[in-house]
Amino acid sequence: MQAEIRFKDIKKSYDGKIVMEGFNFAVEKGDFVTIIGSSGCGKTTALKMVNGLIEPDEGEILIKGENIRGMDQTQLRRNIGYAIQGSVLFPHMTVEQNIAYVPNLINKRDRAKTRAAVSKWMGIVGLDGELRERYPSELSGGQQQRVGIARALAASPEILLMDEPFGAVDEITRSQLQTELRRIYEQTKITVLFVTHDIGEALKLGTKVLVMDQGEIQQYAPPEELLSHPATPFAEQIVTCAR
Ligand SMILES: Nc1ncnc2c1ncn2[C@@H]1O[C@H](COP(=O)(O)OP(=O)(O)OP(=O)(O)O)[C@@H](O)[C@H]1O
Ligand SMILES: [Mg+2]
Repeated sequence: MQAEIRFKDIKKSYDGKIVMEGFNFAVEKGDFVTIIGSSGCGKTTALKMVNGLIEPDEGEILIKGENIRGMDQTQLRRNIGYAIQGSVLFPHMTVEQNIAYVPNLINKRDRAKTRAAVSKWMGIVGLDGELRERYPSELSGGQQQRVGIARALAASPEILLMDEPFGAVDEITRSQLQTELRRIYEQTKITVLFVTHDIGEALKLGTKVLVMDQGEIQQYAPPEELLSHPATPFAEQIVTCAR
């Protein structure tokens, strides 16, 4: 089967320091892959390669078998939702304008259609309608993250990249966001790559978990398998925390 996303013989270094080398990894369409590993092991680097924000030194990123290097970058990014931790919202735009950003580009003059899409996504991520006209600075951290997720999803991407998107919220909000994301995933069957530091979150959300250490893949397996048969001492150490 053709992979939805394939990292092929990737090498990446910064200032001569190798982050990853001979990195090979494939994500099937409809998988929800959670990525967990030590700080600085290359998770964000890997994620940003998928939407072309970072280019590998060697190797290829293939989406549906096509090298992204030759693709129109705007088109590529429009098809890939990207949600990261922290303030990634446009600060001078309201909640509505933030979420409507990509639908506006697509629907052009059809305001009603865009408004309806904004309402729909605000509902799905659990944002109260009366927050529409607020600016990001007037929202709580959890609300900002919901807006970020709604904005990423409103473009109806086939692939969703999330880099520790629930890092800065309290346990209850985090648990709600996890449940909502999992529901959205089940409804839309998009392909998700989700970076987290939290093994509980990785096991709860992922259909597969990628365990990384120092640019190397330690294990890539469904949660049950990772728990019952950790493949390396590093994987063992990580799951011990979740047992
Ligand atoms: N622009 C850059 N210039 C130089 N070094 C970089 C750059 N970006 C990342 N690095 C280094 O590359 C390595 C991998 O970084 P990356 O951001 O991918 O790690 P990460 O796994 O996402 O870490 P964390 O869990 O802390 O977010 C780190 O050692 C980091 O310091
Ligand atoms: Mg990171």
